[in-house]
Amino acid sequence: MPAKILFLNGSNLNMLGVREPHIYGHDTLADIDKRLQARATALGLAVEMHQSNHEGDLVTMIQEARTTCVGIVINPAAYTHTSVAVLDALLMCDFPVIELHLSNPHRRDAFRHHSFVSQAAKGIICGFGAHGYELALEAMAKLVTK
Ligand code: DQA
Repeated sequence: MPAKILFLNGSNLNMLGVREPHIYGHDTLADIDKRLQARATALGLAVEMHQSNHEGDLVTMIQEARTTCVGIVINPAAYTHTSVAVLDALLMCDFPVIELHLSNPHRRDAFRHHSFVSQAAKGIICGFGAHGYELALEAMAKLVTK
């Protein structure tokens, strides 16, 4: 069985494609997942994509990934800027965590400039739109495959 990477998406990312497309683009999460699956297969990895609007669900999924996955790519969405609980869950993970954003939060509102999650992240990818998900997968593959 190929090693599994969890791609975790926070609040409102189920609305990708219709949500402020001038900021987040026109691709849906399903579109992104399709491309990730193809690339993961080529890399000899498995990708599992999840989304929740609920902070506690994200925490539970991170806890479960500790024993089932070899890495997490997380776009915590608004929880990036608010959630100590998501940070604490990520700090329990013994594998690489990559923080991902479609937009570049540093070009946006001041309240988006601070990320709680960054403290647990090996690296951060932001500002490349949906393509960032594939960039994150490539980066994760380098970290988890020898
Ligand atoms: C986001 C940036 C966050 O500031 C915002 O709350 C989101 C999406 C991004 O992918 O650009 O919901 O994480």
